[in-house]
Amino acid sequence: MNIKILSNFTKGFLTNSEIDSEIDNANKAREILHSKTGGGKEFLGWVDLPMRTESKEIEAIEEAASEIQNQSEFLVVVGIGGSYLGARAVLEATTSPFSVYNKDKKSVKILYAGHHIDSEYHTELLEFLKDRDFSVNVISKSGTTTEPALAFRSLLALSEKKYGKDGTKKRIYSTTDSKKGALKKLSDEYGFKTFVIPDDVGGRYSVLTPVGLLPIASAGKDIRSLHRGALELEESFKHQSGTENIACMYAALRNALYKKGKKVEILVNYNPKMHFIAEWWKQLYGESEGKGHKGIFPAGVDFTSDLHSMGQYIQDGERFLFETVFNMETPSKDMTIQEFQGDPDGLNYLAGKTLSYVNSKAIQGTKLAHHSGGVPNIEIQFKDLSEKTIGQLIYFFEYACGVSGYMLGINPFDQPGVEDYKNNMFALLGKKGYESKKAEVEKKLSEL
Ligand code: PA5
Repeated sequence: MNIKILSNFTKGFLTNSEIDSEIDNANKAREILHSKTGGGKEFLGWVDLPMRTESKEIEAIEEAASEIQNQSEFLVVVGIGGSYLGARAVLEATTSPFSVYNKDKKSVKILYAGHHIDSEYHTELLEFLKDRDFSVNVISKSGTTTEPALAFRSLLALSEKKYGKDGTKKRIYSTTDSKKGALKKLSDEYGFKTFVIPDDVGGRYSVLTPVGLLPIASAGKDIRSLHRGALELEESFKHQSGTENIACMYAALRNALYKKGKKVEILVNYNPKMHFIAEWWKQLYGESEGKGHKGIFPAGVDFTSDLHSMGQYIQDGERFLFETVFNMETPSKDMTIQEFQGDPDGLNYLAGKTLSYVNSKAIQGTKLAHHSGGVPNIEIQFKDLSEKTIGQLIYFFEYACGVSGYMLGINPFDQPGVEDYKNNMFALLGKKGYESKKAEVEKKLSEL
């Protein structure tokens, strides 16, 4: 296992008996998860998804990825929320920010669309693609989400203009429900190659389905290792409970801290490639747990950058925070700090040391300072940023989220709250069926 959970820096905030009692609760929640007796039980397909994924499915995804690599320089991934964040998290974590792509047709550069409605971004994207070869992977489980559907319209139009109807058919890949939704209908009509999101896997738990795997494979990443990492944890978690099960341990610690008034969890990374892991995690936990006026608010910071912005608040602001700190054991690359003649910057005392050594001391120093300032830390030690470890991290967080949600007494697999903004927006936009709501929304707006 490439992940460990450490609780040393919760000392002074949690007693052993408080932790033990939450471990008991985590075990009960784990039972609910495995016996499929809790809320949202029809969306537990992700629990044994790695085991159920057949090698022919992986082969089909790899085949499509290789078609995309052969015909295009860019793949535009159109999706929002769970239909976008997982792929981006894995890709940013496993890719050098300076990588050259598609030199040998073994990868494409991934661009994103439909993850917001900003007009400048989408106009600039179309301008950029006009003279470049691109394919599109449009992803929507419901097939009716406004943001990606709007982006897809314009990309489809550009593709037809550039490649004609037949060319477009070969360049658009859709990932959607097996039977229903506008995207499924449209894909059948146009003859796009289509991948299926299983009925029993919700959006934010779908990164290990074609939702994540097709973009990840297209970017040249090893989806077999990603899958293997997740499978290893699925197999372990089937038999492990209590402190032996790292997901139960994490769920127990965060719930114990929540009960002590620590209502905000900040996921901390010291490796900028992990920024989008935190974005994915924020959605997973925020959308799963924030219900019935309950739930830990998930936030994220990138250290040491944000020590120069958010650091002051974390050290010294309101004391309702705890941190969950990523600590990577072995960076795949390192560099030695050089001697500087005359020591003009005063850093020669570090000459001969590595940059990762300095980062590790920053981690220790910060954990200690924040702990002393009233911010307990849970630590997630992980081996590296390989596809296999990332696969383990994904499964670990999904499992811990299911357990945590059941500990909280909510259904971690629905998201009723996200409908409210949509209803107001549709009413204001004059969507059919929202006529009476329009007057009500406009009245409320004018009163504020
Ligand atoms: O986790 C979820 O269910 C959501 O974040 C969805 O993934 C998101 O709203 C996109 O939905 P869809 O895939 O139906 O377009």
